[in-house]
Amino acid sequence: MSQKDIGNKIPIYKLKAGKEVEDYYDEWTVKNKYDKDMVDWKYSGPQETVTLFKKHNFKKEIKILDAGCGTGLVGVELKKNGYFNIDGADFSQKMLDLVPKNIYQNLFKIDLNQKVNIKDDTYEGITCVGTFTFGHVNPPALDEMVRICKNKSLVCFTINVGIYEEYGFDKKIKELEDNNSWKIIEFIKSDYIASKGVNAWLVLAQVTK
Ligand SMILES: C[S@@+](CC[C@H](N)C(=O)[O-])C[C@H]1O[C@@H](n2cnc3c(N)ncnc32)[C@H](O)[C@@H]1O
Repeated sequence: MSQKDIGNKIPIYKLKAGKEVEDYYDEWTVKNKYDKDMVDWKYSGPQETVTLFKKHNFKKEIKILDAGCGTGLVGVELKKNGYFNIDGADFSQKMLDLVPKNIYQNLFKIDLNQKVNIKDDTYEGITCVGTFTFGHVNPPALDEMVRICKNKSLVCFTINVGIYEEYGFDKKIKELEDNNSWKIIEFIKSDYIASKGVNAWLVLAQVTK
């Protein structure tokens, strides 16, 4: 399905990149509309991602980065499942402002399309849900995720099926496998936003260093 067609279902997908996307999310927070829409749309990305993450990781104390955390829906799921050492990062300050208290240890306002100011080998797990989609965050962010993760960390993320090949996620995932940066453990179709006919690939990779 083309970006134009999918943009008719979910307007955010019509946006191109950068400031336009940030402004849209800032606006989407008014009267908590983002969170309300996600309930109305039966958005299952956070729950599906955390279920998959948990299936492969039993240590609750690991240090996790929720990249593109938005209002914290993934953090809430992680917390519900016993994880407590979680940081969140997003470039929309207004989304970050809506994150409930006591979910994340630290919140960072960062652009995931740039090199991030986080040291190598900082995290033991990363979740990134809803952020690899039209006009949002591009494949090189996956290199950064590997860099800031320790050996054997799990990186669990969704990629909107509509951009998987068009944006080169297929090539980046293979490149990281070919150069032994990670091993793909799971690659499955997520319902994601089934009520809108929008699906995502749900990927779980283990970093190898
Ligand atoms: C669909 S929302 C998903 C939020 C959250 N993970 C969830 O599942 O509800 C996408 C998020 O990506 C963030 N985002 C988009 N482009 C970004 C970028 N370049 N750097 C950091 N965050 C970005 C948006 O601000 C938004 O919070």
